[in-house]
Amino acid sequence: MWIMKVVKGLRDVYVAESRICRIDPEEGKIYIYGYDMDELAVKSNFEEVSYLLLYGYLPTKREYHEFLSKIKGSMSLPEPVIEFIRRVPQNIDMMERLRTIVSYIGNLRERELVRDEEGIREYAIDLISKMPSIISYTYRFERGLEPIEPRDDLSLAGNLLYMVKGEDPDPRDVRGLDISLILYSEHGMNASTFASIVVASTGSDYYSSILAGIGALRGPLHGYANTDALKQFIEIGDPDRVDEWFRENIESRARRLIGFGHRLYRIHDPRAKHYQKWLEENGNRFSGEARKVYEIAIRLYRRALNSFLADKGIYPNCDYWSGLMYYSMGLPIEIYTPIFLLSRLTGWTAHIIEYIENNVLIRPRALYIGPEPREYIPIDMRQGDTS
Ligand code: CMC
Repeated sequence: MWIMKVVKGLRDVYVAESRICRIDPEEGKIYIYGYDMDELAVKSNFEEVSYLLLYGYLPTKREYHEFLSKIKGSMSLPEPVIEFIRRVPQNIDMMERLRTIVSYIGNLRERELVRDEEGIREYAIDLISKMPSIISYTYRFERGLEPIEPRDDLSLAGNLLYMVKGEDPDPRDVRGLDISLILYSEHGMNASTFASIVVASTGSDYYSSILAGIGALRGPLHGYANTDALKQFIEIGDPDRVDEWFRENIESRARRLIGFGHRLYRIHDPRAKHYQKWLEENGNRFSGEARKVYEIAIRLYRRALNSFLADKGIYPNCDYWSGLMYYSMGLPIEIYTPIFLLSRLTGWTAHIIEYIENNVLIRPRALYIGPEPREYIPIDMRQGDTS
């Protein structure tokens, strides 16, 4: 007999076969097309990893340079997009504005439904290349600042720093941000990737699939955790308040500690160590508010490791540290999840291309637990509570 079983949150359910990412949660290893993420973070750069994810292999020198020229040629925003960004409602979360802007870019680009690999790649390269400008223009217009054009001599990470802060980026920050973009690029069948392939599986278009990913990434249990983790450190306000705050909010079970816990890992998120290393190496550069927030984060981390969380296998994930890295670089908090978005565009695209190659409509079921069939009573005759 077939027993119907609901798997809440699709925990441990395999929804597809994939060649893209292998995660070994016990060993704490992530492989992208067989390449160790730890090695990519140290030796590669975001542009090369983007190529790997979009094409499924590492580029030759010639392919890499052609890819870079495509990126450089697509980084600037066309006038209609700039005008659109000016008119997008201000004072709402930047992820929500980016969702609208990406949808508009889709309207400009996609004249017919494109489902072939090459067409999807073209859209993806265009969107990835433009995303630093989109983030920076959205941020600058809201602040009443003049927009800054991207520079050909800078990478995507370098351009993002340059265009947001409006100054020549420090190479140590460029490298840190580049590492972060590599680490965020792909992580298996996470919620936003799944959302993207659900939409792609219906035969829908690339931009609609990406918008589904953006919507999922905006949630605080997923991509927004890097924003909320930083806000949490700021809320604590003083390193000496960490203990009291932890007791009142986390030990009391009133709230979850943001930046801790992961569906897959019962150990430290393997990406976290790269952020910690950068923070340790660059810590002496922080001063003022950044130094204070850094100390709060470190104390909170130590406190949490000596609490019931560690007993339950709840350890820091990458979002605990990434916001702290960006804050130390002087980047504004509203762009933290958008940075994650820029990076994850690559992973979403890889999965969309792979999934639609052997497309099967994703259409699960819900186990019905509602009322038994009952009579319809016309509205005039309904009395009392009909729920
Ligand atoms: N703080 C306090 N308790 C926690 C936390 C946390 N951060 N994470 C899990 N728990 C507890 C939870 O309350 C539950 O307790 P109980 O069994 O007593 O009800 C238990 O651990 C299991 O929690 P769960 O929600 O069923 O586990 P999950 O696998 O669905 O959770 C998670 C994964 C990421 C949603 C969760 O750990 C969480 O809410 N973390 C905080 C938000 C966060 O940092 N998100 C970033 C995720 S990693 C990167 C990314 O995807 O963006």
